[in-house]
Amino acid sequence: PLSRLTDLKHIDELKRIKRSISTELRELESRRNHIQDDISLQQGRYIALEQSVKKAEGEVQFLKSRIQQLKTEQKEVEKPKLAAPARLLASEDLNVDLTPTSLHYKCQMHSCFDYSRCSLTSQFPVYVYPLNTDNSPFDVTSFVQEAIRISFSTNRYITNDPSTACLYVVVVGEVEASAGVDSKPVISPDAISSWLRSLAYWRGDGRNHLLVYFSHQTTTQNPLKGVDTGRAIVGQTNFEASQFRMGFDAVLPNLPSFKTSKLMKVTFINAIDKIIIFLFENYYVPALRDYALSFQGQWPSNYHAEADGDAALPPDSEFHQILLENMNLMRESVIHGNFMLQVQCQEERIVTPGFSSEWSLCGSEGDRLAVLSRSTFALILPAEDRNLLFTPLFSTRLIEALQSGAIPVLLGTHTRLPFSEFISWEKAAIILPQARVTELPFLLSNIPHAEIISMRRQGRFLYDTYLSTPPQVVESTLALLRTRLQIPALPVEDVPSNVIPHRSYPVVEHVVSPGDAQSEFGIPPIEESTSSPQFTRNYTSVTLDSRDTWNNIPGPFNLYPFTPKDRLLPSDAQFIGSSNGFRPIGGGEGGTGKVYQESLGGNSPWEQFTMVMLTYKREEVLLQAVERLIGLPHLNKIIVVWNSPEPPGAELRWPDVGVKVVVIHPEKNSLNNRFLPWSEINTEAVLSIDDDAHLRHDEILFGFRVWRESRHRVVGFPGRFHAWDPRHGGWSYNSNHTCELSMVLTGAAFLHKYYLYLYSNWMPPAVRAIVDQHMNCEDIAMNFLVSHVTRQSPVKVTSRWTFRCPGCPVALSQSQEHFDERHLCINAFVKIFGYMPLVYTQLRVDSILFKTRLPHDKQKCFKFI
Ligand SMILES: *[C@@H]1O[C@H](CO)[C@@H](O)[C@H](O)[C@H]1NC(C)=O
Ligand SMILES: *[C@@H]1O[C@H](CO)[C@@H](O)[C@H](O)[C@H]1NC(C)=O
Repeated sequence: PLSRLTDLKHIDELKRIKRSISTELRELESRRNHIQDDISLQQGRYIALEQSVKKAEGEVQFLKSRIQQLKTEQKEVEKPKLAAPARLLASEDLNVDLTPTSLHYKCQMHSCFDYSRCSLTSQFPVYVYPLNTDNSPFDVTSFVQEAIRISFSTNRYITNDPSTACLYVVVVGEVEASAGVDSKPVISPDAISSWLRSLAYWRGDGRNHLLVYFSHQTTTQNPLKGVDTGRAIVGQTNFEASQFRMGFDAVLPNLPSFKTSKLMKVTFINAIDKIIIFLFENYYVPALRDYALSFQGQWPSNYHAEADGDAALPPDSEFHQILLENMNLMRESVIHGNFMLQVQCQEERIVTPGFSSEWSLCGSEGDRLAVLSRSTFALILPAEDRNLLFTPLFSTRLIEALQSGAIPVLLGTHTRLPFSEFISWEKAAIILPQARVTELPFLLSNIPHAEIISMRRQGRFLYDTYLSTPPQVVESTLALLRTRLQIPALPVEDVPSNVIPHRSYPVVEHVVSPGDAQSEFGIPPIEESTSSPQFTRNYTSVTLDSRDTWNNIPGPFNLYPFTPKDRLLPSDAQFIGSSNGFRPIGGGEGGTGKVYQESLGGNSPWEQFTMVMLTYKREEVLLQAVERLIGLPHLNKIIVVWNSPEPPGAELRWPDVGVKVVVIHPEKNSLNNRFLPWSEINTEAVLSIDDDAHLRHDEILFGFRVWRESRHRVVGFPGRFHAWDPRHGGWSYNSNHTCELSMVLTGAAFLHKYYLYLYSNWMPPAVRAIVDQHMNCEDIAMNFLVSHVTRQSPVKVTSRWTFRCPGCPVALSQSQEHFDERHLCINAFVKIFGYMPLVYTQLRVDSILFKTRLPHDKQKCFKFI
């Protein structure tokens, strides 16, 4: 029993132990739970911390690259600041001492011109004395008065403030010519001199004065000959060798009539038939015309003898005899072509020359132009008196030849042609010494057709630019003096942008599509919006490029902020020395894929482009198009040209795509607005694009890179060509697939801003009128213009042949009528330009490693193109 008692005790003990263990276990369990909770809490914290570390790392990475970017950009803008120089001789004193000169006929710019009035930055202010003042001995004809009034009223250099003027213009003629050949001047030289000395700003010696004697009639005389003109420069048409001071005086062309000057005139006879008449059809082609060489004139001895039997005539020179003999030979020759050489006017229709040693003109202007427009070359015989450098009659012959596309053949190298200080006449005329008269037919028949057309084209350019209207002649005269003084032209004017303010919305979900910069090679670099440098060539335009500007489209009258003709630096300059602004690929070591995408490389400094999007009442399509541009590198700005009569609604909001979106509402609804040089465009590169154009980022980027290498051409995607239609003997517009193209549609193309200036200011207005008339063809017009200026084809990039967005409402441009109009446009443009300027190409540009097999560790330039 005792043992049972002990047993019971033992059991009690065990029970107690069990209870205590259970309690302990429960406690342990709950502690375990606590600890586990704690662990998961800590784990959560750990993950959160890890994430924020990652985020911070990303931010650091981004900031690092941003700093790198800013460093690069800062380096690029760190150029020495230029301030305008002080005035040359810094004188408010109006009487800078020039070396006294009593010999006005020895005047040269360095000895007679006061440069201190004309600093390089002065913008060439010109003061014009009022015409026909009371004490003037010159009674300027009403034609010249009117021409001068019109010309000066539109001239930007004219100032009303004589105290700041650089040049003082005195118009002394033309006065009514006294009839007859070699007549004595009606005004005495002394009277002229003393009148000149009485001019308000003559300052004793006429420094910085330009005396202009314009000629309109062929008989006009030379009244300034023998006059003491002090230090004044003389500009006129009649010049004798003894009187002309090289590098100082200016040989001017005749002042043409207004009526013959509207070369680019368009007459819409009937708006329904859309018939257009132009003055100069078939101007360039064919190269050879009916007459190989033409001349019409009469030697004064003949008509004098007929007129009044006067025997006191100059004896005919030896050259004259040789000339007549050779003319006879040429007339009879059939080997070298058909020579139309008339040395006798028909029916006494003679235009009197100013000098007895000059061949007179025959017939009316219309008769002469009719013959000249059938002539390949036009013979021009200067006065046989070799002392005569240039005369109004000579000028008439020259101008009429250029006007009708007959290439002037000038027999006599003793002459001086107008503006020859800067015009390279040899590019438009054949100038031979008289001794070559026997070799003339041989030489002319040895000029290739392409060269004939090139001379004709240059002649037409010279005619249009310098000779065609009184304002052109006046403007050219001032430009001559300005270029001589190395003062840049006034800048071409931008079109003020009528910007419509707007609000934007953030794009929350932006789709990254294949080909986007982001999907190709990760996050693209973020860039500051950077303008292209402007007006860096102000002074080279009037020094090393002065002849270039005078002899190429568009001429010297405007200064452009940039042109596509900039010279390239040798590529070592990127690494040694002139490295500013370049971003070579991989720092110069090269690279593909990501490395390539990060920099622009190439031969010119880093830059951006502006997108100009023309839109007409298609908001949805438009906003989608803008949204797709998020993350597009090198994009400077998006300009939306709102081409509808009503401005965009105030409620319309635009996606925030990271670059400035500028909405412009033009005054007038016109397709020409696509090419207005808006003041908001600050880059050289302009991507012209339709609102429904659907281009991928990689295509745009590649197009931009290609344009950088062909800055003077249209570079884009959809190619078209001009096809010859043998049934109608005309041109047609063709968009079929083919292996040759000649146009790139500007619904998706890169262009230089320079061409926007040319399109809007320089191109014949008739072209823009046709674009407005048809509401079509502005893209064809731009291709015509660029090919005319460069004589090169556009550049087509990538395999894309069309660019419309899939699913967009059918565009106007696809209708048949729209297409047919394009044939009409092409043929009308050909008439205005005078020939078919488009140039074919059989090339397409793809990126370098496109379709190249690469080792696995190498990337392509672009994934798809
Ligand atoms: C160049 O010409 C433009 C336009 O006239 C002017 O704004 C700019 O200041 C000029 N630059 C220099 C360096 O003279
Ligand atoms: C384009 O090609 C088709 C046949 O492939 C032809 O019928 C059509 O006339 C062509 N269009 C033009 C404008 O030449």
